[in-house]
Amino acid sequence: MTEELSPIDRAKRAAARCAADEIENGMRVGLGTGSTAAWMVRRLGERVHDEGLRIRGVPTSTRTADLAREAGIEVITLDEATWLDVTIDGADEFDPGLDLIKGGGGALLREKIVATASDRMIVIADAAKAVTTLGAFALPVEIVPFGWQTTRRLVVELLGGMDVQGRDATLREAGARPFVTDEGHYILDLHLGRIGDPQALSLALNQVPGVVESGLFLNICDLVIVGFEDGRVERRARATGGN
Ligand code: A5P
Repeated sequence: MTEELSPIDRAKRAAARCAADEIENGMRVGLGTGSTAAWMVRRLGERVHDEGLRIRGVPTSTRTADLAREAGIEVITLDEATWLDVTIDGADEFDPGLDLIKGGGGALLREKIVATASDRMIVIADAAKAVTTLGAFALPVEIVPFGWQTTRRLVVELLGGMDVQGRDATLREAGARPFVTDEGHYILDLHLGRIGDPQALSLALNQVPGVVESGLFLNICDLVIVGFEDGRVERRARATGGN
């Protein structure tokens, strides 16, 4: 069957295959969430099937867990793995220092826990995710449902003192109801336009009671593999680490 892929899917698939092909026998692999990560999970499944690749995967969402099992990948929990060799995940934005915005798919909390528990984090992305300054993509912030409107007010007040362009915070919805994460939380999307100081914003957000975690992934990613629609890939490594 001939696959008719859109240019963006060809780019995502190119990046995903390149990263999946770096995985070796015996590795414990964090499996990201989203459309790009799904290509990576399917490619790992092919390798398990065709080459007998032996890996164990820790999924970052129930969606990815289902996909990984369907693909024939052995799925374990992070507690069973305790530590991972590598996590491969998508991103909504990455900047020249490889800092990221993640959480467009609503899985940012598990994604951050899993990536942080890995020797390396590889991000796979199409070129449209590259930005000079983070913030055009609305920043997801995971919050507890209890008192969420108060939490939103505190977050908006906090934004008043931050180096950002916009200050709107909207509750993410799924149909007419709040979107609920795998951990039972809500998500606020912060429409900031430009984040002048991601580090300061990340620290300040994590001080607000009710905020669980933000989608700012700072100093976590080691390597971004950028895919292009013609199948080419480009590797952008963190200056001090990844290769
Ligand atoms: C999931 O919560 C996100 O962090 C995704 O990794 C991110 O939104 C990228 O998704 P796509 O690969 O679908 O663009």
